[in-house]
Amino acid sequence: MAIEHIIKAKKEKNDEFYTQYQDIQKEMNAYIEYNPDVFKDKTILLPCDDPEWSNFTKFFAQNFERFGLKKLISTSYSLEKKEEKYNFVYQLSLFETESPIYRPKISRKRGKIFILSRDENKSGKIDIEDLKWEYLNGDGDFRSDEVKKLRDEADIIITNPPFSLFIEFINWIFEGNKKFIVVANIGSLTYKEIFPLIRDNRMWLGNGFNGGNAYFRLPSNNVNYAKGVFDEKTGLVKFRNCCWCTNLEHGKRHQKLQLMTMSDNLKYSKHKKIKELGYIKYDNYDAIEVPFTDAIPSDYDGMMGVPSSFLEKYNPEQFKIIACSQTGCHPDSMVLKSYKDYKGFKQSGVSTGRTGSTCGHNPMLPINDGIHDYYKNDSGDIVQSANSRIFIERNVKKDENNS
Ligand SMILES: C[S@@+](CC[C@H](N)C(=O)[O-])C[C@H]1O[C@@H](n2cnc3c(N)ncnc32)[C@H](O)[C@@H]1O
Repeated sequence: MAIEHIIKAKKEKNDEFYTQYQDIQKEMNAYIEYNPDVFKDKTILLPCDDPEWSNFTKFFAQNFERFGLKKLISTSYSLEKKEEKYNFVYQLSLFETESPIYRPKISRKRGKIFILSRDENKSGKIDIEDLKWEYLNGDGDFRSDEVKKLRDEADIIITNPPFSLFIEFINWIFEGNKKFIVVANIGSLTYKEIFPLIRDNRMWLGNGFNGGNAYFRLPSNNVNYAKGVFDEKTGLVKFRNCCWCTNLEHGKRHQKLQLMTMSDNLKYSKHKKIKELGYIKYDNYDAIEVPFTDAIPSDYDGMMGVPSSFLEKYNPEQFKIIACSQTGCHPDSMVLKSYKDYKGFKQSGVSTGRTGSTCGHNPMLPINDGIHDYYKNDSGDIVQSANSRIFIERNVKKDENNS
């Protein structure tokens, strides 16, 4: 990495995590395998990407000719804004300070734009050496009019956006009605602002990171702000809950999950929980609890509550997504039940000090599994909270053979 950064202090909402080249390559290959012309004659905008750090810019610049791109635009966010937001101090790179267009007075304030569209250096090929750059008029915020104009010019938006602005970023893409491939956090897909897009098949998960684990590079050797997720051996931070999301087709989206019937699951499931507890109907939702995606019964016709990791395996020909347990996205059939008069207990019988007043939106199971905390009312009724769930049904019409 060309630039040394010093971290002045730890800040909570840090967005400075850089995507690895091989992860970008693996993901993009999935779209190309499905449609070799997916990027042909397209203008691609990378709106959070400074080539000094971003492998997105490097990847697309290196593959410009192979993909048949029309134009590559990469914009970066002002150093001053990053410094304000994340409390880093960035040193300017030689790339910038030695450039004939370097302007010290505006350099930290402004974002930059990098464009690749033709063989500038007359080398006989278009590649990263032909990237031209200049300062933007503003700070490079993707919400600025200047970058919005670039969005409108583009066919496809690709990046790992700032995690802390994910909702705004996705709205910004949809406002421009663009194709996109972006890195996301699986948890953010059930936000009430995002989930309807997933439910309505306007956005879905991409091919994915290896084994569901994503490793990102940091802009500094000071890893204070990434404690707990930094791996000293690799020098990378690890996130388990990262995914790609997109509205471009790829093959994995059409692969069918191989599933057993309910009775076979009850006999042969590898999950002890399924064999011991079976498929429990929620107390407040007209659905059964399916805590593992691979334990979805292939022959159940009603609604099922599944973990959000199901989205990585979701094939719209096989299943319909109905709703999720996130406030604002509940199924119509949800029983609006209040658990205000319930009190929380540990398995030892000691009070947790909590009441059930916040349980109403969670799927509640009318059981005591003997492991987790439970809630009990004065009549002796017991419930336990399931994790947040996505509610699905078999897509019977399109998937008649799935039994
Ligand atoms: C998760 S990092 C990813 C960087 C790069 N896309 C990559 O994957 O290597 C997100 C980047 O967005 C930048 N950023 C933060 N807020 C921004 C904004 N409002 N507009 C544009 N970029 C922003 C951050 O400074 C950071 O470099």
